[in-house]
Amino acid sequence: MSSSRLKKQLALPLVATALFAVLLYLVLPAFAPSPTPPGGQLQTAAPVFYWVQLFAQIALWLSLMFVGVRLAGAFLFDVVYRLRKRREAPSLVRDLFSIVVYILVVAVILKTYFALSLGALLSGSALLGVILGLALQDTLGNLFSGISLHADKPFEVGDVITVGKWMGVVESVTWRAAKIRTFTNHIVLVSNSQIAKEAIEVCPRDNPNARLVYFNALYAHSPDQVIRVVREAIRETENVRLKPAPIVRMRNLGDFAVDYEIKYWLVDYVQHNDTEALLRQRIWYAFKRAGLQFAYPTQTLYFERPKAAASPAADAETLTGRLSATDIFAPLNADELSQLVCGSRSHTYAPGETIIRAGDEGDSMFIVRRGNVAVQINDNGQPRTVATLGEGDFFGEMALFTGEPRSAHVVAAVETEVLEIGHEAMKSVFDSNPDLAETLGQTIADRRAGLAASAETGDQAKVSAGIISSIKRFFGLD
Ligand code: CMP
Repeated sequence: MSSSRLKKQLALPLVATALFAVLLYLVLPAFAPSPTPPGGQLQTAAPVFYWVQLFAQIALWLSLMFVGVRLAGAFLFDVVYRLRKRREAPSLVRDLFSIVVYILVVAVILKTYFALSLGALLSGSALLGVILGLALQDTLGNLFSGISLHADKPFEVGDVITVGKWMGVVESVTWRAAKIRTFTNHIVLVSNSQIAKEAIEVCPRDNPNARLVYFNALYAHSPDQVIRVVREAIRETENVRLKPAPIVRMRNLGDFAVDYEIKYWLVDYVQHNDTEALLRQRIWYAFKRAGLQFAYPTQTLYFERPKAAASPAADAETLTGRLSATDIFAPLNADELSQLVCGSRSHTYAPGETIIRAGDEGDSMFIVRRGNVAVQINDNGQPRTVATLGEGDFFGEMALFTGEPRSAHVVAAVETEVLEIGHEAMKSVFDSNPDLAETLGQTIADRRAGLAASAETGDQAKVSAGIISSIKRFFGLD
């Protein structure tokens, strides 16, 4: 319990204690009736005074009891328990402690002021027993179910549970009910006796909880390809555990499609709705990039009139135009540009998807057709963006031209379309345009300097000359 909450809880009992103490020891003595002379008349004010005094005394004890229980609770559970167990004390234990102390203090007050024994009172009066028994039936049921839940510990605060139609994160378990926050951010109180009666599904916080997601693909696609593409998409999805590795498997050979099932384990189960939505989105994009298609029910008559799609020739023309507008390919003539277009493929990436992973081998480079990408390096385990490239910029040239592993991660910042140009296409361009190596060598040297953590880049001209000769060697140009 935080100290501010404790202060709030103590404020009222402390004020009440002070008031009753003032009433009892300062105000009432001033009104005390004088002792009755032997054989004299009893003053009429005397019984009223004694009742007020009795009331003030009992009220003072009760307020002191509240202060004492709260202070003792704070010491026992927030200091001793927390130091020994290194976690919050369960609310149920706190509540039980308070209830027991309250009953004991009430018993002492009854005994002291009214000479009544709580045990004798309960056992002696059958009627009182019946009334209390009926009134406390549910309360006691909840209390004992709460105690058994506490002893059994089927779930803890932070776990996701499903009881009846309710599913949510457990926020607390008191002597009466468990408080659950649903995924629509509503609070549901499920009584302990209901929890004890029903079957509950528990997804413990520190357990690798799994989920299943289903999708389908056309019979025309090889399952091997589908499974590979989907596995890669899952690897890219946040909050999915890499160990145990997600499983993608064929589930059924359906009427009109091959049905697949994904089983994956979550890092934080509380986020499962968001993770599942992101996973489906990633699969959609991965399918699109790989040229895979989801299946439509064959029972549905599906008429599709092809849109006035751009003809391949028109598309090639647009691409040629785009390439000639980029700095590096500006010197190429129309033939060389169309050669380049023939050897390239277009891909679309979702926001946040990795296009290039640092350390991988690479034999292609990319031109941004639409969107933008972030070039990132690993800075003490955290990705740090060193450059942002937009429409018309290129990347991936370092590994392609030098044969070295990829030097950085390149991640799509928004939905991004890129044109991938392979080794063979570039080689034919170099054959007819050897000067291109000079321009690229300079760009690579500049980018390397940008990547270097310190400004210690050495002699730029020498670095660039070294890169140019390694490009020429790699592509077998003289
Ligand atoms: P490559 O090493 O093949 O893969 C990662 C790519 O990130 C790299 O080629 C470059 O195209 C690009 N890159 C690396 N450093 C920079 C930088 N400082 N500025 C712009 N792009 C860069």
